[in-house]
Amino acid sequence: LPATRVDAAHKAEALATIRAEIGDCTRCPLAYAGRRTIVFGDGDANARLMFVGEGPGADEDTSGIPFVGKAGQLLNNMIQAMGLKREQVYIANIVKCRPPANRVPEPVEANTCDQFLLQQIDVVQPQVIVALGSTAATYLLGVKQSLSALRGKWHSCRGAKLAVTYHPAFLLRDPGMKGEAWKDLQRVMAEMGLKGAS
Ligand code: URA
Repeated sequence: LPATRVDAAHKAEALATIRAEIGDCTRCPLAYAGRRTIVFGDGDANARLMFVGEGPGADEDTSGIPFVGKAGQLLNNMIQAMGLKREQVYIANIVKCRPPANRVPEPVEANTCDQFLLQQIDVVQPQVIVALGSTAATYLLGVKQSLSALRGKWHSCRGAKLAVTYHPAFLLRDPGMKGEAWKDLQRVMAEMGLKGAS
């Protein structure tokens, strides 16, 4: 078997171990706030590129898969425009349970949950992480700054290069900003040697 396939199998096993450790989690208040499903993560355990969002919405809470609703469809289009398939990247969120009415996760919720996301990052060991929106950026970088202050430069997180861009749900509300997000993704593509969709 090629080494990358062996790697991928080991990483998938390690991710399954993290998922098992999470169990039927009641570590934070979101467990009692109406969530139905713990949304762990999706994609290639050996991905070079990882996207991190905020938390599950209604569609994700139903399906158990991150970014499957309207914002997820836009994220899929962004991934495709980069010349990748969704199955080739890894996708997860800061919190794994849906906050009521899609509110921003409370610090105690994010700080309780993100230990598992950090373990997922340590297993996948992506080359690049894209933080989607300010919740992802805040908790992955441990600093609270405006998105405009964080965009357009490289940060680091768990040995990966980290770029910050707009959350696709924001881009759905303000489509005029898609060009700015595309600039961020083009910087990621240059770093990774991706040529984009042909
Ligand atoms: N928004 C997010 O931040 N994450 C999802 O999984 C879906 C919508």
